[in-house]
Parts: sequence; structure tokens; C-alpha cells
Amino acid sequence: MLKPQTTAEVSQILRYCYERNLAVNPQGGNTGLVGGSVPVFDEIILSTALMNRIISFDKVSGILVCQAGCILEKLNEYVEEQGFVMPLDLGAKGSCHVGGNVATNAGGLRLLRYGSLRGTVLGLEVVLADGSALDCLASLRKDNTGYDLKQLFIGSEGTLGVITAVSILCPQKPKAVNLAFLGCQSFAKVLETFTTCRAMLGEILSAYEFMDEKCMELVERHLKLSSPVTGSPFYVLIETSGSNSTHDEEKLNNFLEQAMSSGLATDGTVATDDKKIKALWSLRERITEALTHDGHVYKYDISLPVGKLYDLVTDTRARLGPRAKNVVGYGHLGDGNLHLNITAESYSHSLLEAIEPFVYEWTARCNGSISAEHGLGFKKKQFIGYSKAKEAVLLMQRFKAMLDPKGILNPYKMLPSGS
Ligand code: FAD
Ligand code: MLT
Ligand code: ZN
Repeated sequence: MLKPQTTAEVSQILRYCYERNLAVNPQGGNTGLVGGSVPVFDEIILSTALMNRIISFDKVSGILVCQAGCILEKLNEYVEEQGFVMPLDLGAKGSCHVGGNVATNAGGLRLLRYGSLRGTVLGLEVVLADGSALDCLASLRKDNTGYDLKQLFIGSEGTLGVITAVSILCPQKPKAVNLAFLGCQSFAKVLETFTTCRAMLGEILSAYEFMDEKCMELVERHLKLSSPVTGSPFYVLIETSGSNSTHDEEKLNNFLEQAMSSGLATDGTVATDDKKIKALWSLRERITEALTHDGHVYKYDISLPVGKLYDLVTDTRARLGPRAKNVVGYGHLGDGNLHLNITAESYSHSLLEAIEPFVYEWTARCNGSISAEHGLGFKKKQFIGYSKAKEAVLLMQRFKAMLDPKGILNPYKMLPSGS
């Protein structure tokens, strides 16, 4: 593993590897969930762990420029001191690097409010396979001069270049944040609660997450977390972020009154102080961790038309029956993103064959995506065809061949083998 500190060092490493046909696996915080950040054979790991310098922060525009190895949570703490927040947040914030976030085009818990990194990343510095540095580190909201090359590297999972620095637009830190955690008696009610809260909360709605009762059981059993709301088949987490606490609380209370009186939610709690807000978020953010304590986990990260989101969980549960220990569904409902996870005591090839390609075929029938936010990495690369046309994959392969003609950058990842 090599740990460069500067872009010049990354250039030197790649130039050396390129000349000698040595394969390189870029690595950030190593929190990726599809096996993209770990070598398959003899790749050299190029870690950004020591590239953690903040380059500049503009307090008027909220534009942050930093090296790729900065940890997301540390960046958030830094910009919070200046009255801003990072435009993305995820359960792995304490370990993941902003370069890794950009390389995976990470979604997370704030996408509903601030949009994807494709909008908030303003510029990138990238070192290409042959060691040449590409300076697209603009700090401009608007720039229509030629092709937007940075977009090619956002979500490229380390296959086209090593991201060494990022310029990103940070929104103003909201003055008032509230969280409601509600229990719903059916998935139909979860959906109706979403449409109602969108209509009633409008611009202050900043997150709408859901989890089923199995998820709740697992965080309680394995992590000893306790929920103030119990006894429902579904739970939703609704966050508001705004600039006027009186106004926001009034809006939230009106919505809650409507949700409870019309039977959309049957139980619930509200948090306005930091400690309770964090505790409630943990119930949702730590599901991934709870699952790892439940046995071998088969993970799926699916985009679907929101109305069909939970049907996939129900159908998978019915198909697998007692062969699975738990089949759970949670995710970023506001973004149409389901995390379907299946656990079993240990890995079984026959169970895998019962899940795949069933889940992918099901998703393709609904015109969904087999990877909403985690990417394809090593684990899902063979299944790209369920979500992308043959011509699109061919064009991706041509881009790869043009930017990395020797195929030294993260080989065996993202694109199907044989490419
Ligand atoms: P790594 O895991 O180190 O790498 C991921 C990929 O990016 C690899 O292919 C690697 O080669 C490449 N890469 C890394 N750094 C660079 C670089 N500088 N240049 C080029 N390529 C690079 N993901 C979401 O989208 N939303 C979530 O809500 C979410 N929640 C999570 C919660 C938990 C508890 C965990 C464990 C993971 C979660 N993830 C989530 C997945 C993961 O955290 C994200 O994909 C994250 O963006 C990866 O960042 P990283 O720095 O750890 O990258
Ligand atoms: C999440 O939303 O919790 C993450 O994407 C991680 C996961 O899917 O387990
Ligand atoms: Zn997620």
C-alpha cells in the first residue's frame, strides 16, 4: 500500500506503474459495499489516507476545496464552524473520504434536499493512468466551456483516474432541525405519509427514510439500541431543516396532527435537541452494522418506482422462505432507493442462486437500477446489462480504453470482465 501526500506523488506513482504495467487500486476510507476498494490479485493499493489537507474555503459562496483523502465527518465539522454543512451525509461519514464519495457518486441521507454530487461537485483534480494531472478544479457555479469532463470521473469507481482534489458547494447550515420518527401500519401508509409530508412541509423537508420492523428488531438485538416507537411493521424518519424554528415547528406539528388523526401514522416521537436527534438517526444509520452481526449478508441497492419499492422485499421473502434468516428492507424512500438485505447463518451458493438473477430480473422488469448509489465494484459488475443498454456499456469500454489503454486502474471492477 502506498500513501502519497501530494498530487505530484500520485503522478510519480502512476507514471512508474504505467511504464511497468503494474495495476493500481485507488482506495479512500475502504467503506465501499461492492468490493471496489480492495485488490483482487496483485494490485498496488494507492490510499488517499494522507491526502487530508483543506485547500480553501470561501465563506461567501460556501465553496470548499480540499484534498481527496479528507474524511467526510471532519469536513462537515470544519464547514459547520463557518456556518455551512457538507451537501452529503452517510452512515460511514466517520471513515469515508470525500474522494471516495465522489468516485462512487455516493447518495446518502441528504440527497433529497441537496441533490446528487453531480450537481454539488464543482471541480476535480484527477491524475490519469499515465501519471498526467488533469486540472479541472474549478470553483464556479456556472461554466459552459466545452464538455464537463469532471462528470466522467464522478461515479467512475477508480477505473478512469485517481481523484486527488475536490471542489464542492456547501449549503448554509440550517438554523432549525427537527426529526419525527413515526410508526406506520402498512407500506401504503408509508407512501401516503410521504406525499402528505411533501405537500405540508414543502421546502423544509430534508430527509425521508424508511425501515421495516425486521430492521428495528436487528438494531435492538445486535446493537442494544432501543426505539421510543415500537409495535409497527414500518417506521419512517422525517427530517426538517430550515431557518426559523417557530415556523418549522408549527409546520411539522400541523403535519403530525394530520398524520395521526387520519391514521397514516399510529405512533411517533419528535426530536428537536441534538442528543435525541442523533439517537433517532442511529436507529436508521446503524442498520448496516446490525446486519453484519446477523450472519452472512447478501446486499442489494436498488432504484425503483417508489410505489413498487417494498414489493421486491415481499416477493423475495416469499421466494426464499426459511432458507433466509432475515429479509429486510430499508432505505432512502424519498429518492426511490431500496436497500434489500438478506441474511443467512453462513454463505450458501444455492441461496445466492435463488436470489440472483431473480432480484436483478425483477428490477429490470420495473425499469429500475440494480445499483442506486453503491456502484458496481467487483461484486456487481457482471450485472450492468440489467440496467444499461449494450451500446452504453460499449461506449464506457471505449472511454476506459482511451483514458487507461493499459488497463492498470482498478482492473476487474465496474465493467464486465472480457472488456
Ligand atoms: P472506498 O471504499 O475506499 O472506495 C470506493 C470506490 O471508489 C473504489 O472503487 C475505489 O477504488 C474508488 N476510490 C476511492 N477513492 C478514490 C479516489 N481518490 N480516486 C479514484 N477512485 C477512488 N453509500 C451511499 O452512497 N449512501 C449511503 O447512505 C451509504 N451509507 C453507508 C453506510 C455504512 C455504514 C457503510 C459501511 C457504507 C455506506 N455507503 C453508502 C457506502 C460507502 O460508504 C460509500 O460508497 C463511500 O462513498 C465510499 O467512500 P470511501 O472513501 O470509503 O471509498
Ligand atoms: C444506507 O443507506 O444505510 C447505506 O447505503 C448502507 C447500506 O445499504 O447498508
Ligand atoms: Zn443508502
